[in-house]
Amino acid sequence: MLVMIVFDKVSFTYGENLILKEISLKISPGELVAIVGPNGSGKSTLVKHINGLLLPTDGEVTIDGLNTKTKEHLWEIRSRVGIVFQNPENNLVASTVEEDVAFGPENLGYPPEKIVASVKKALQAVGMEQFSKRPIQMLSGGQKQKVALAGALALGSKYLILDEATSMLDPQGQQELLSVILKLNKEKLLSVIMVTHNIEEAALASRIIGISEGRIAFDGTPREIFSNSDLLEEIESELPEVTKLGYRLESRGLNLKNPVLSEDELVKRLCCSI
Ligand SMILES: Nc1ncnc2c1ncn2[C@@H]1O[C@H](COP(=O)(O)OP(=O)(O)O)[C@@H](O)[C@H]1O
Ligand SMILES: [Mg+2]
Repeated sequence: MLVMIVFDKVSFTYGENLILKEISLKISPGELVAIVGPNGSGKSTLVKHINGLLLPTDGEVTIDGLNTKTKEHLWEIRSRVGIVFQNPENNLVASTVEEDVAFGPENLGYPPEKIVASVKKALQAVGMEQFSKRPIQMLSGGQKQKVALAGALALGSKYLILDEATSMLDPQGQQELLSVILKLNKEKLLSVIMVTHNIEEAALASRIIGISEGRIAFDGTPREIFSNSDLLEEIESELPEVTKLGYRLESRGLNLKNPVLSEDELVKRLCCSI
């Protein structure tokens, strides 16, 4: 069985409008993928195909070999693929943290001992175990997003989709959620697919996919993408500030082995080049 997400020539129309145009791609377990592109380019439409919230008009999406068009596979697909949306208010359903995280496993009919254990483990994984009895409305936006993440983990998700999940949070909430996501990807071998407007956030991924007008404009590592600024222009985006600084220093005669992806990297290369 093929263990990965596969889009095979996926097209999707809303009414008359062709929104996704023959998208083909594969995402393997453990990857950390950023999806970037202008507003309205089709990013949310694309990721909603991964857990069968939307079905292709043409082409196929398979998750670990399970076709999203096969109704009997839908629950299995939804437990493998967790999704966290932009607005923290829309991701949660129950009144307390532990009830919310237990909601998915309860609906799947897990036995009570298994539910208790999976809720505990999931809350630990996102660093929210001390808040388990807390009413949801007392949490900050960032904490709500972490509880939504725990909900996906409690279901045993292998693939996590974050559709601009950090964009409504304050900088501290963004930072905290991101570090939990990176940790989960690194330690638990979860695949993470994050739609983001923030190119600095995309630079943390192992792969960046650019979407423009429903097509894949580019697909590569941050270093590959940031070596060619024309690619980012195509999606109305720009290089991260630290990467721009690296190029500016190069134009002043410093050999930095551009592009640089982070402040740490810039500091290391500056130390080596002096
Ligand atoms: N429910 C809908 N009905 C009709 N058109 C929609 C619907 N949702 C999105 N669209 C259209 O599909 C296109 C892609 O939207 P979306 O996937 O949300 O883009 P993005 O997430 O990149 O901003 C846009 O032109 C949008 O207007
Ligand atoms: Mg969107």
